[in-house]
Amino acid sequence: AGQIPNEKTIDDTIDLMKEGYLYIKNRTDDYHANLFETRLLGQKAVCISGEEAVKMFYDPEKFKRNGAVPKRVQKTLFGENAIQTLDGKEHLHRKALFLSLMGPDAQQHLAQMVRAAWEARIPKWEQKDRIVLFDEAKLLLCRCACKWAGVPLPEEEAEKRAQEFIDMVYAFGAVGPRHWKGRTARNSAEDWIRSVIEDVRAGKIEAKDGSPLKEMAFYEDAQGRRFNAQMAAVELINVIRPVTAIATFITFAALALFEHPRARDWVQNGDKQHIDWFTREVRRFYPFGPFLGAKVRKSFTWNGYPFDEGLLVLLDMYGTNRDPAIWGDPDVFRPERFRDWDGSLYNFIPQGGADPAKGHRCPGEGITQEIIEASLDFLVNAIDYDVPAQDLSVPLNKMPTLPESGFILQHVKKKTPAG
Ligand code: HEM
Repeated sequence: AGQIPNEKTIDDTIDLMKEGYLYIKNRTDDYHANLFETRLLGQKAVCISGEEAVKMFYDPEKFKRNGAVPKRVQKTLFGENAIQTLDGKEHLHRKALFLSLMGPDAQQHLAQMVRAAWEARIPKWEQKDRIVLFDEAKLLLCRCACKWAGVPLPEEEAEKRAQEFIDMVYAFGAVGPRHWKGRTARNSAEDWIRSVIEDVRAGKIEAKDGSPLKEMAFYEDAQGRRFNAQMAAVELINVIRPVTAIATFITFAALALFEHPRARDWVQNGDKQHIDWFTREVRRFYPFGPFLGAKVRKSFTWNGYPFDEGLLVLLDMYGTNRDPAIWGDPDVFRPERFRDWDGSLYNFIPQGGADPAKGHRCPGEGITQEIIEASLDFLVNAIDYDVPAQDLSVPLNKMPTLPESGFILQHVKKKTPAG
């Protein structure tokens, strides 16, 4: 050791909170290094960034997830002992279940459901002066996610449940009230979904074969053991919550559309290639997941630095998506950059890296991409609206973040068919 940059700090947690998404990138930039050592939450940690770091981080011989996710994150964002904390065979078996629920059919089905649900909101919006897009998106996505999953959601509960899923996500980097809101939200949602699982098993609720509800309720692990109701609830929430959280990317997509109006032509003309690039650029450019954590499984050396067994390692997602060694002018929003992208599984990592079937990369990227595209189509082709003066700044010291205003649309009107 000794050759690599070291923060020489008693604890850097305060700086992490202050700098947020930029914490790791500020230091790898300053040190001109793709790793540095620090102390966070009372323990030694090594932060890594860039494509080579991603390749290493996703090598299951080198890293494990068990013991890497702090309890405070399990009690809010992920749920305790969920898929995010598993390793090896147990992980692969459970991951296959998640992936089987999120293939092309589910992606198309959800995207069409979302598109229709947006359309159905227009009459309500026409009676209002303004709406907040993020608030509308979370409610609409929560309804669609539950419908797709097979979970009955009484209309009068939709607002509350949508907010619970959002509170779990926005508890991630929080201390104090925002963290506690996340815990309360998780407890409430788990109680609800556990009772739904119990009702399905008791035959009181019908669940269709292949629906996330049915598959989670009756999943058997590699040893043929069924989930207890609590674990089934945690994993069912692990598909409904992230669909609701796509509200964040939809809000960023609307912001991008506002700031780069030439993209409206691509959406108007149904130019699939450019729409795909635009949506990817939204996911690369705007901050959502900041970093990922894992622990060293077996000691090894990388770039001259000893990664000792048990060491906590943080992979910089935000910084890798803006790494100048990968992306030219990384701080410029430029969808066409994806024309030259090599399609690597290790350099575009808004939802993790490597092969989702073999590691922890998000199984929901297809769903995410399709739902954003369906929402863009709605914003451009179904309605006209004004964007009034508002605070569109995106604070980088809040993880996750959002444009401050939530993106306000004013004077929304159904588009009259051209010609
Ligand atoms: C994992 C991001 C949408 C389900 C992840 C990971 C990230 C991520 C960063 C962790 C990767 C890793 O640990 O290596 C996002 C973002 C989304 C999104 C930013 C946009 C809102 C979705 C959707 C679903 C989903 C729509 C499901 C319908 C999951 C699951 C995991 C996961 C189950 C755990 C996978 C594992 O541990 O093997 N996601 N995701 N996500 N995501 Fe997503």
